[in-house]
Amino acid sequence: MNYLITGGSGFIGSHLVERLLSSGHSVINIDNFDDFYDYKIKVRNTLESVKLPTEFSFREKEHDIQKLIFETSSKDYQLYYQDIRDKNGLEKIFAKHRIDVIIHLAALAGVRPSIERPLDYEAVNIKGTMNLWELAREHGILKFLNASSSSVYGNSDKISFSEDDSVDQPISPYAATKKCTEILGHVYHHLYKISMVHLRFFTVFGPRQRPDLAIHKFTQNITENTPLPFYGDGSTARDYTFIDDIIEGIVKALHLVETHENIYEIINLGGDEVVTLEEMVAVIEETLEKKAHKKMLPMQPGDVQKTAADITKARTLLGYLPATHFKTGIKKFVEWFLKKGS
Ligand SMILES: NC(=O)c1ccc[n+]([C@@H]2O[C@H](COP(=O)([O-])OP(=O)(O)OC[C@H]3O[C@@H](n4cnc5c(N)ncnc54)[C@H](O)[C@@H]3O)[C@@H](O)[C@H]2O)c1
Repeated sequence: MNYLITGGSGFIGSHLVERLLSSGHSVINIDNFDDFYDYKIKVRNTLESVKLPTEFSFREKEHDIQKLIFETSSKDYQLYYQDIRDKNGLEKIFAKHRIDVIIHLAALAGVRPSIERPLDYEAVNIKGTMNLWELAREHGILKFLNASSSSVYGNSDKISFSEDDSVDQPISPYAATKKCTEILGHVYHHLYKISMVHLRFFTVFGPRQRPDLAIHKFTQNITENTPLPFYGDGSTARDYTFIDDIIEGIVKALHLVETHENIYEIINLGGDEVVTLEEMVAVIEETLEKKAHKKMLPMQPGDVQKTAADITKARTLLGYLPATHFKTGIKKFVEWFLKKGS
């Protein structure tokens, strides 16, 4: 298969690229190495995803990415330094390649920063996504997989969140943009018969996790003896999903979209294990054999109280079965974190 992945140099994207290449597929990766976090991390992700050594002599961003494009280019892999907001730029890539399936992961992905920069989130997450659908339509690409998020559920007080629940009350701009993509996606499915699956990921963690996410930040705080910002009373809880399980879920969803015509599905991908903030910090402390210096802070605007995935649909439709327990996942994350050296 020829896959076009957006955001393939990010956390989830680089793992997916690695998996698809090792299964013998071709991958085109569109990523603009945005400054949400250090581009050098994304350079390393990219090198790892194509199984090249991660030693890289960095000079300055533009030069480094051009060098990366050259070094990683192969008959099965092509990286494009391209912003999804720029439709003309995307058009050149679509004109050049035969694409079977689009896997859209590129986004501005943080909840709290979306409150500071709502218009940027709108431009990347909504307009950028629409650019891809417009090009899919123009080029007759009928298979599309989109990264949505558990944040669409807002402050639901249900025990676990199911795809049939109403998600009309998001509490952050980020969550609202993800919900918009699910709705707009339906229009493209309806009008142009694009088969589409939206995967609602529940807090993903593991090696290469984004540095802005809590597990990564807290591991850094504990190892460096710096204060760990502890928001609320510790009772907020997340359904954490290990990266290998998410990749397994994506691969299964790809199979669904590739083997069915004209489908539209929204599917939760969670870890089936809800962990409180208090428990999460305790597991990291135990794994590092070191105590955190907690700095108690109030709950942050935009943060939901709890996420908990009902994964019945993923189980029945995809055969998805998350296999990594939280403690095992943290152990793997910490091993990676200590090996990478910062
Ligand atoms: N990590 C999670 O826990 C989680 C949970 C729910 C949903 N998601 C969604 O999964 C997807 C991947 O998340 P991630 O954690 O790997 O994030 P990430 O930030 O590591 O990866 C996103 C990638 O998209 C690229 N990108 C951003 N804006 C772009 C633009 N305008 N043009 C081209 N590329 C652009 C970035 O450079 C980055 O490499 C996102 O859509 C995110 O919203 C992630």
